Amino acid sequence: MKKIKIGVIGLGYVGLPVAVAFSKKYKVLGFDINSKRINELNRSIDNTLEISTESLNIAKNRNFVLTDNINDLKTCNIYIITVPTPINTDNLPDLTALVLASESVGKILSKNDIVIYESTVYPGCTEEVCVPLLEKHSEMVYNQDFFCGYSPERINPGDKKRTIEKIVKVVSGSNKNTTKKINRLYSSVIDAGTYVANSIKVAEAAKVIENAQRDINIAFINELSKIFSKLNIDTNDVIDAASTKWNFLDFRPGLVGGHCIGVDPYYLAYKAKIEGYKPEIILAGRKVNNSMGKFVVSELFKAYNFNNSLSDKTNVLILGATFKENCPDYRNTRVLDIFNELEDLKVQFDVVDPWIDSDSFFSDHNIQVMNELPNKKYNMIIVAVAHDKFKTIDYEKLKINDDTIVYDVKGILEKPIYTSRL
Ligand SMILES: NC(=O)c1ccc[n+]([C@@H]2O[C@H](COP(=O)([O-])OP(=O)(O)OC[C@H]3O[C@@H](n4cnc5c(N)ncnc54)[C@H](O)[C@@H]3O)[C@@H](O)[C@H]2O)c1
Repeated sequence: MKKIKIGVIGLGYVGLPVAVAFSKKYKVLGFDINSKRINELNRSIDNTLEISTESLNIAKNRNFVLTDNINDLKTCNIYIITVPTPINTDNLPDLTALVLASESVGKILSKNDIVIYESTVYPGCTEEVCVPLLEKHSEMVYNQDFFCGYSPERINPGDKKRTIEKIVKVVSGSNKNTTKKINRLYSSVIDAGTYVANSIKVAEAAKVIENAQRDINIAFINELSKIFSKLNIDTNDVIDAASTKWNFLDFRPGLVGGHCIGVDPYYLAYKAKIEGYKPEIILAGRKVNNSMGKFVVSELFKAYNFNNSLSDKTNVLILGATFKENCPDYRNTRVLDIFNELEDLKVQFDVVDPWIDSDSFFSDHNIQVMNELPNKKYNMIIVAVAHDKFKTIDYEKLKINDDTIVYDVKGILEKPIYTSRL
């Protein structure tokens, strides 16, 4: 193969770290349709906070060029597609970005190029949806003129220890030779090594089941928390005890949002239904996890009403609005379910999240999020997200009186700081 030149399409949470990692060894061109994102990255600002300004500067001084013009990628011979694959309001796969990206790459594809998909999809999607678009727009034949691969991404945003180079990468290719080339390519930058899957479809399936399995495990624990609430026992206390057995799986209750665990099971369910199988456990898990915001609010009020009656002055502080701890990502955050419940109950609430871009959250959800704690006191406090900063707050200062409830959704506080938890 001639000198490797990589084009990365979609520079978000996944694409940017991928591009920076490859730029340590190869020439990399990063493309995003969002010109604002490209402008910021050109100023070495990554608003996903995954790559530091220093690392971006080093990458750009080395081999990394950014553009919002796909035609600049024409001279690349490897394309890596890392665009979003969300669900629509009916919980069905929304492949719009994947389709557009495949069309754009198809138009600039040359003979012998390799297109590798990293976006999470259902098994079969790469070859059934994307390859025909590449063929159509390149007017070339798959596995004859151009080749494909699939390598699912496993990064964990906000996790500064398990970075891309330190996570084993599953790779696959459309034929033996391409698989070899793709494996060599990823092995050259992934310190943890690679795992070669038997086919593209196997690699696609491996990714969705990793997240579907996690979703179901959490759903089981969430269901337990509903049962244990009726029995007046603390779920985390039960898990602490059960975890002393060697083969008990230590999952904790909580809200399940984001664009992976809360989304990927729907991709698998969609494909299963198309093939004539209606999944039961996968969708039941989704249903339980989606019900947790409402349950948290009902538990909160159960604890509060033990001693108090509601008035129009009753107020609630919600700590955290992102979908997970220590990162600014709030896509599909289930904290929204808590907001909606409180709004329905006509209870005043404030939201504090030090990680969130308040303006963008307001324009998406019409809810004001403060980055700092206000000088106010509250009747109820919900610790909804496990940001490290919430572990060191002086909760006494936020309490309106001794009856203030501190509801610790994620079980991050020590006794006796919290009043109740799932
Ligand atoms: N974020 C994660 O933790 C994570 C982990 C593993 C896998 N994934 C998967 O990786 C994929 C990307 O996720 P993400 O979190 O990086 O998304 P993201 O929203 O952070 O980034 C996607 C980027 O793609 C750009 N984009 C959209 N359409 C495009 C197009 N047609 N051409 C070029 N650029 C386009 C967007 O502007 C955005 O900058 C998804 O399939 C996701 O499920 C994400």
